[in-house]
Amino acid sequence: MIRIGAILIGLFFAGIALWSFGKGAYNHVTEPGEKPAYYAFKEKPHGPDGGFSFEGPLGTWDYAQLQRGYQVYKEVCAACHSIQYVAFRNLEELGYNEAEVKQEASTYNIPVYDAALAEVETRSGLPTDNFPAVPYFGAGEPPDLSLMTKARNNGVDYVYSLLTGYGEPDPDMLAANPDFEVPAGLYFNPYFANVNLSMAPPLTEGIVTYENGPEATVDQMAQDVTAFLTWTAEPRLIDRKQTGLPVLIFLLIATILAYLSKKQIWASVKPRKD
Ligand code: HEC
Repeated sequence: MIRIGAILIGLFFAGIALWSFGKGAYNHVTEPGEKPAYYAFKEKPHGPDGGFSFEGPLGTWDYAQLQRGYQVYKEVCAACHSIQYVAFRNLEELGYNEAEVKQEASTYNIPVYDAALAEVETRSGLPTDNFPAVPYFGAGEPPDLSLMTKARNNGVDYVYSLLTGYGEPDPDMLAANPDFEVPAGLYFNPYFANVNLSMAPPLTEGIVTYENGPEATVDQMAQDVTAFLTWTAEPRLIDRKQTGLPVLIFLLIATILAYLSKKQIWASVKPRKD
């Protein structure tokens, strides 16, 4: 009796679950939810023409580019964005020597809490310090950029597209979507999640001056700073790729050896004839 009761109760709940699933699926097909007005303006992120040097299985860092990217970060983005997960000593990986890193770190002020005085004081940075937080008093909240290329879907292309994607909404699309507007104080960018963001276009031609590098066009600076932010988010990216190929070659050789030794070991055993 108890068993029959349990089966009935189980069937009842399974029935409810099935029924609500069926109803949801039916509604989903017959009345698809209305997409917000900005949806029509969204675009998919893309990389620069020719791609980045670190892409593909044999990709490598372009150290000159990473150094230019750091310069763009420091001279432009650092006014609002921190890179708190990066330590100054990591900059040696970009090709700076120890003395340069020491010098670079010392130009930053690092807050330290003095327990005796119960006060926060500052001292000049050391190579072992991380980049400090950046105070910001403007509109919106600039996120930390250390891990940005990992934090967003297709993040490398996203950051590049975002930086180069500012502009005006297409007038024909505006006419077709009368509900859409760019709120005051925000900027239109079809790559941002809801196509309006509070970051003004940060890059303008020549905003940095590259020492014996290429011309500082918006596209060039966007590529360079994106490469730099790819490195901050995954400094081991190239090491990881470079481990892959030797491992595959090793596995291939191991497989051939295993096959040959199998043949050797079984050579004396006559195949059965029946
Ligand atoms: C004047 C301040 C300012 C400067 C300079 C600036 N940003 Fe921003 N940034 C912001 C603010 C504010 C936001 C938040 C936007 C929002 O959520 O509406 C933001 C957001 C972002 C985002 C995140 C978008 C997302 O998906 O959440 C990225 C990436 C970004 N900035 C990259 C950069 C880079 C790279 C530079 C340097 C080339 C830079 N920013 C310079 C203020 C700034």
